[in-house]
Amino acid sequence: MAQLTVISTPANVFRTRPASSFYHDVVQGLRAQQKYLDPKYFYDAAGDELFQQIMQCPEYYLTGCEMEIMTQQSAAIAAAFSKYAADYDVIELGAGDASKSIHLLQQLIDNGTDYTYYPIDISGNVIQLLNSSLPQQLPQLSFRGLQGEYFEMLKYASTISSRRKILLFMGGNIGNFSPAAARSFCQQLRQHLQSGDLLLTGFDLKKHPQLILHAYNDSAGITREFNFNLLRRINRELQADFDTSKFEHFPTYDPQSGSCKSYLISLCAQQVHIGDDVTIPFRENEPIYMEISQKYDPVEINQLAAFGGFAPVAEFRDQRNWFSDCLWQAV
Ligand code: TRP
Repeated sequence: MAQLTVISTPANVFRTRPASSFYHDVVQGLRAQQKYLDPKYFYDAAGDELFQQIMQCPEYYLTGCEMEIMTQQSAAIAAAFSKYAADYDVIELGAGDASKSIHLLQQLIDNGTDYTYYPIDISGNVIQLLNSSLPQQLPQLSFRGLQGEYFEMLKYASTISSRRKILLFMGGNIGNFSPAAARSFCQQLRQHLQSGDLLLTGFDLKKHPQLILHAYNDSAGITREFNFNLLRRINRELQADFDTSKFEHFPTYDPQSGSCKSYLISLCAQQVHIGDDVTIPFRENEPIYMEISQKYDPVEINQLAAFGGFAPVAEFRDQRNWFSDCLWQAV
């Protein structure tokens, strides 16, 4: 729920206006010349549920690919860790439920590695869930959940651990940055690491464009609902009046740039109201840019590593060569 603050108008009539950053970000995005919404707001309770369903869709191959890598190649990944680092701790950015990394954590325990796992997540809910699930799933695991922003928590982790760092940044995470944003993110990450530290990061690889497009346009329409859910969330939490039947879900994939972008298209000229104060005009066919999922080829991955100040040292792919978990070392 958005926080509500009571504000007083010049006529001294009391009205309510949402004061959250959700409100601020939505209004800013919809007032921009090229309208956009921040994809981090997809994930309310209904959005989490829909994303779980997306991950079950036959067309959405990403989760299965990386799960295959983690279940089949954890031993090889662990071997690469010890080849390039001696005494280390494992820090995961955006750990979620850790359902993929848990296979790797288990492998490290089986190998007798002495390490602490620091999952970092912005969501207190996620950290709470890990606090109760991890001791049951991996009783021997030494871990400490850190709730907060990635870079703040990385700094904090350096104050409580003097070991080498191995960072996990898996899934579609890096793909949700534009190429330029991914470059500056990698540089920033590097600034929070010592030379010799390792980063294991997931990349969805360029592949047949139709396969990629279908992953973001599943035949059951769940991805469409996932996009509409953000409009419904805005209606509910920010007292807006989006009519989802007047928008169409329009995913695109450009095989040359590797950018997979989703839009919602306004099907007519219309006005949408947010609370009492804000009116957003839409032209017929005007898009709202919803999200990017960037796909990479091996050359682009290595360029990104070099730009950020990393050297690629190992790579782990699923059998179909659709997804790659890359191990980079800070130089
Ligand atoms: N962004 C993630 C990805 O690239 C998850 C995702 C899948 C998603 N479909 C989406 C996010 C549609 C927003 C809209 O795979």
